[in-house]
Amino acid sequence: MWIDKDDVIVLPDMMWGNYNMTFCIRNSGKIVHYKAYDDQLTRFNVDSFEEVVREQAKINDKIITVLNFPHNPSGYSLSVEEANRVAAILIDVAKGGTNVVAACDDAYFGLFFEEETSKESIFTKLAGADKRLLAVKLDGATKEDYVWGFRTGFVTYGILGDNDLVLEALEKKTAGCIRGNISNCSHLSQTILLKSMADENYDTYKQEKFELLKRRALKMKSVLKDPKFNDSFDVYPFNSGYFMCIRLKDVDAEQLRIHLLEKYGTGLISIGKKNIRVAFSCLEESDVETLFDIIVNGISDLRKG
Ligand SMILES: Cc1ncc(COP(=O)(O)O)c(C=O)c1O
Repeated sequence: MWIDKDDVIVLPDMMWGNYNMTFCIRNSGKIVHYKAYDDQLTRFNVDSFEEVVREQAKINDKIITVLNFPHNPSGYSLSVEEANRVAAILIDVAKGGTNVVAACDDAYFGLFFEEETSKESIFTKLAGADKRLLAVKLDGATKEDYVWGFRTGFVTYGILGDNDLVLEALEKKTAGCIRGNISNCSHLSQTILLKSMADENYDTYKQEKFELLKRRALKMKSVLKDPKFNDSFDVYPFNSGYFMCIRLKDVDAEQLRIHLLEKYGTGLISIGKKNIRVAFSCLEESDVETLFDIIVNGISDLRKG
C-alpha cells in the first residue's frame, strides 16, 4: 500500500524479521536502521531514532517508519515521555516538508505490564497531526486475541481533515491490495472473532490471559535480579508483550541456541551474534528460573569448549 521501489523505511536494528520480506524482498524498499538500544541497555534509543529520521528526511521526500510497541523481539514499550518525543519528531519532520508514513504495528497492543508505560497507541498522537503525515494503525488478532493462525487483522488510517475522497481512495486501495496479495482473509476466522468479541465474557477472558502473561513477565524480572546471571548475559529492558531478550557476554547466540536445543531440549530464538529472545508466552511461571539456569549452564559448556 505505502511502499514504492527504493522508498526508505526507518526501523530499529532489532525487529520482526518479516518486515524485511514484506518491505524489501516483495516491494523493493530499503530499510535504514537506527540503534534500538544504547550500549548500556538502559532504554529504547530515541536519540538514534531521531538522528536517522532527520538524516533520511533531509535526503528523501518521503520516509516510512514502523513503530512496533510492545516491541518484537525485546518486549519494550515506550514511556509516555518517550512516546511524546517520537511523535513530536515525526510531526516536526512532516511539517518541515517530508511526506511521512508512520505505521503503528500494534500486534501486541494492550499487553502493558508497568505503570509508567504509555497505554495508548502512538497512532493517537500522529493521526491528523499534519497534511504530510499518514498514520496507520495495524492490529492483529493473532496476539491481541490469542488466535494463532486466524490470519485476521485490522488497518486504521489517520489523516488530517475529513476528506471523503482521500478516505475512500485509501479504503479502495487497501481492499485492492488485499485482493491482489492474498485474495481474501479467512471468512471463518473473521466470523469466529466477531462472535467472540460480541460475547459478554470477551473482556473477562482477555483479562485472564493478560494477567497470566503479566505474572510471567514480572516473575522473569524478579528472577533476573539475581546477580548469578551477570557474568553470562545482560538483560534488555522489557515491560510488555510476549517476549524479552538477553545479550550474551561472550558466546555466539546461534551456537548457544543449537547447543541448548541439542543438550537440554530447550528451544529459543537467536538474533544476530549476541542476542537470544525468550518468549514468556510459552513459558510457565514455575519454569522461569530453570530456563535461565539452563541458559547459564549452556553458556558455561560452550566456554569450556
Ligand atoms: C511485530 C509483529 N507484527 C505483526 C505480526 C503479524 O502477526 P500474524 O501475521 O501472525 O497475525 C507479528 C507476528 O509475529 C509481529 O511480531
